[in-house]
Amino acid sequence: MENLHNPRVFKINRLSAHSDHRYTGLGIEWKKSLNGIWDFSYCDSPNWTKIQVPGHMELQGFGDPQYVNTMYPWDGKESLEPGEVPKEFNPFGIYKRRFDIPKDWKNRPIYISFQGVESSLELYCNGEFVGYSEDSFTPSEFDLTKYLKDKDNEIVVKVYKWCSGSWLEDQDFWRLSGIFRDVYLYSTPDVHIKDMFITSDLTGNFKKATLKNVLKIESLKEQMVDIQMELLDGEEIVLKVEENSIKVDGAIKIELSKKIENPKLWSAEKPNLYLVKITVKDSKSGKVIEECYQKFGFRKFEISDKVMKINGERIVFKGVNRHEFNCYRGRAITEEDMIWDIKFLKANNFNAVRTSHYPNQTRWYELCDEYGLYVIDEANLETHGTWQILGQPCTDKVIPNNNPEWLENIIDRAKSMFERDKNHASVIIWSCGNESFGGENLFKMSEFLRSLDSTRVIHYEGIFWDRRYDKTSDMESRMYAKVHEIEKYLKETPEKPFILCEYSHAMGNSNGGLHKYTELEKKYPMYQGGFIWDYIDQSLMKKDPFGNEYLAFGGDFGDRPTDYNFCVNGVVYGDRKPSPKVQEIKQLFSDYRISIDEKSFTIFNDSLFTNCSEYDTRVKLLKNGVNIFEEVLECSVKPLSEKTFKLSLPKVKDSGEYTIEVSLNLREDRFYALKGHEICFGQKIYKIEKKEKKSLKGKPLFIDGGFNLGIKAKDMELIFSKAYGGLISLKFAGKEFVEGVVMPNFWRASTDNDRGNKMPFRYAQWKLASMYAKMIDVKSVEKENSVEIRAKYELPTNPISTCELIYEGFSDGKLKVSMEYDGVEGLSEMPLFGMSYKMPKEYSEVEWYGMGPDENYIDRVHGAKLGIFKTDTKSNMSEYVIPQECGNRIGTRWAKLTNKSGFGIKISGEETFEFSALPYTVNEIESAYHHYELPKSHCTALNINKIQMGVGGDDSWGAPTHDEYLVPSNKKYVFSYTIESNI
Ligand code: GAL
Ligand code: MG
Repeated sequence: MENLHNPRVFKINRLSAHSDHRYTGLGIEWKKSLNGIWDFSYCDSPNWTKIQVPGHMELQGFGDPQYVNTMYPWDGKESLEPGEVPKEFNPFGIYKRRFDIPKDWKNRPIYISFQGVESSLELYCNGEFVGYSEDSFTPSEFDLTKYLKDKDNEIVVKVYKWCSGSWLEDQDFWRLSGIFRDVYLYSTPDVHIKDMFITSDLTGNFKKATLKNVLKIESLKEQMVDIQMELLDGEEIVLKVEENSIKVDGAIKIELSKKIENPKLWSAEKPNLYLVKITVKDSKSGKVIEECYQKFGFRKFEISDKVMKINGERIVFKGVNRHEFNCYRGRAITEEDMIWDIKFLKANNFNAVRTSHYPNQTRWYELCDEYGLYVIDEANLETHGTWQILGQPCTDKVIPNNNPEWLENIIDRAKSMFERDKNHASVIIWSCGNESFGGENLFKMSEFLRSLDSTRVIHYEGIFWDRRYDKTSDMESRMYAKVHEIEKYLKETPEKPFILCEYSHAMGNSNGGLHKYTELEKKYPMYQGGFIWDYIDQSLMKKDPFGNEYLAFGGDFGDRPTDYNFCVNGVVYGDRKPSPKVQEIKQLFSDYRISIDEKSFTIFNDSLFTNCSEYDTRVKLLKNGVNIFEEVLECSVKPLSEKTFKLSLPKVKDSGEYTIEVSLNLREDRFYALKGHEICFGQKIYKIEKKEKKSLKGKPLFIDGGFNLGIKAKDMELIFSKAYGGLISLKFAGKEFVEGVVMPNFWRASTDNDRGNKMPFRYAQWKLASMYAKMIDVKSVEKENSVEIRAKYELPTNPISTCELIYEGFSDGKLKVSMEYDGVEGLSEMPLFGMSYKMPKEYSEVEWYGMGPDENYIDRVHGAKLGIFKTDTKSNMSEYVIPQECGNRIGTRWAKLTNKSGFGIKISGEETFEFSALPYTVNEIESAYHHYELPKSHCTALNINKIQMGVGGDDSWGAPTHDEYLVPSNKKYVFSYTIESNI
């Protein structure tokens, strides 16, 4: 079809976009859903079958999902110029369904609304062509009236996978198609408010407002009506304004407005909403024709003094980018998904969401209004593959640029978004789209939005790549900028406030160093936070080769070309299970911080509108990780202030490690979490030391064999093999804890970020060092109460390095293990410094006193607490789609590994150590590309490290772990810990 190829044709007979308010009237049901099972033929197949609407074709057996990032999906298959549509492969689906018209709609106009169809649709009704539409993410509506009969109507929708508009939809996501949002018929009362735009200003210190509503009214015939607007706060009518005897004939526009004093203000913290109710009455009879409803929030969003402000206060976005996604349903998400998402975001201290990279379903905005999230609403526009190839700019074919062919098309996308979403209090920023370079067209698009709406500001990141039309964006928006780059911008007296529309790339084991970004919030008023990339892993549920479900990524559907697991960057997994990265984000995104010393604590309240007295302040004292005191206080700290409170803790004298913990918690159930839910915490750790004299008696038994060295003491016995160059047996109470030979370890199963920045290439020698260390010397030293076996290893690095493992058995049955390394110049940093043990699988229960509860690393530990926690090896295996380093805990004082009956070993350090206990060895994890490729677990792999490098996460395509979180190899390391039986 010709329209498909022509960027200038993106709608035929499509109705103009309008607000998404609700309406009732005359006791008639005005909406009839057409969701459900439709008849379906894929690519004109004569075999008609069935399809679920809403839903994607590819997830119902018609074609395959394909994941690509910046490249267009046909790259390497067909050579196309911008606007052209694949000729060889452009599948389509024909949807068919019959319906009757509700009796009470007789003689009324009847419309059909498609809330989202990817990528374009042709509509036929009773055999006649009705219209055509592109733009997958905003509604397409058509007037069906003249084609309809009372009974047994048939509509046919031909949905194309690709159209010229697909060139504007090069978002980094699964390429899916079909009718994936609601479809419904609707009719209207004789006089109908088609559109309204409610605004208010706020003056007089935000105490005075004028509520203004511009209404577009349609009527079938000439009629006199009275129109009344009420503003309701719950049941109470707080404002009323009327216009009587208005003549409506065809389409008219009227404006109602009235002043109001002291309205409750809307913010994400305090999402106060009113209901605007419009009543249309027949002037003669007084009969109500229509009632319309729209929730409304009074709020002022502005840039003043170069800072974005909500109701006069500087806003800091603690945001996330959110794709609409469900691992079974793709982008055809349900209301249940949305409610889950908003609860999750609120419970974890997010205050903002960017609808990356297209307008979402209407319900999402209603939820954000009601529960409080600031929204950057983004137009459906991305042309990434036209201007950046393999990361390099390549702009000779960039669209939309200044190309007149695409201008109307993109303006229409902005209009469809604006008209539908303009009444939502939560939407405070319009975004012109994502990654579409610069140019005049985008500038015009931004000016178009400005001309329609003075209550919001405009965002567009793309001007970073093309400064010709810098005014396109009202703020300087960057993605993945490094902290030093941001500081440079902020120090040079910039003109525009700064946000990160994307940062801290949450791909796999990531989000390290997030605190370095959040620390900018206090330092620079023009730094206004950012949006983590991104919310949910775009991984799709699929069957593995064994018939079990797993979360699949690009390439797993035979889709080529693909960008593999680059679609999996979520802070929650594809099945909406929170990943361990959330622990860190929650604490760093909290509006409150608590600092503690031994006598007092201070709450810093960075919220804009919330007093801490709304929450319970819980004070705890723990001794060696065990709670010994707890009280709940009410601490009043006004927004944007801090206050210090005296601690009244029981006096303690006993030696031990003490933790004072203060947290803020919900005092009552909220919609997103129950009473007691923790919002943030602070900890202060101190020690009362007492010199304890070690009084060891006796000496362990030392057996100096030809092949082996043995030590026996109490219930411990060990064998060190000279032949195999390491510890080969360690028993407590006669039970073996060592499988294979214990060796030094310097390697971790590389993470997505590691691979992205080529860590494995730079550090590869340390993998060899971990696999092929060679013992070059072993000797024993007998001491007063102990025996020491010292083994020296040469490591296959260039230059050669060495390290020593020292096993010292004491007469009380404890084994002290030490590892020493002198430091060598000329080698890369090492991933970690430690040892790995393969232990019998039965020791799968893990308990530790250290940082937790969730996985943590030296650059991702702000959200972890010191405490005693439990897990097991299986649960400790994080579900990053490609198996990788995971499950680490830093700051460990002791760890126990036991079997189900509680017997096992305890490891303690004089200094704290890092450890993980997992069901697979490092090499097993690193060799697997999917979880189903992992072998059947046969052991407990215990990794004990002095230190492991951080996980990084500024981005996943080159950003290394920050220097201070690396493990240099030119330093001397000495590391010791003690192993003993736990009973
Ligand atoms: C950005 C882009 C996102 C996503 C991200 C990487 O460049 O805007 O859509 O591709 O990088 O995951
Ligand atoms: Mg992109």
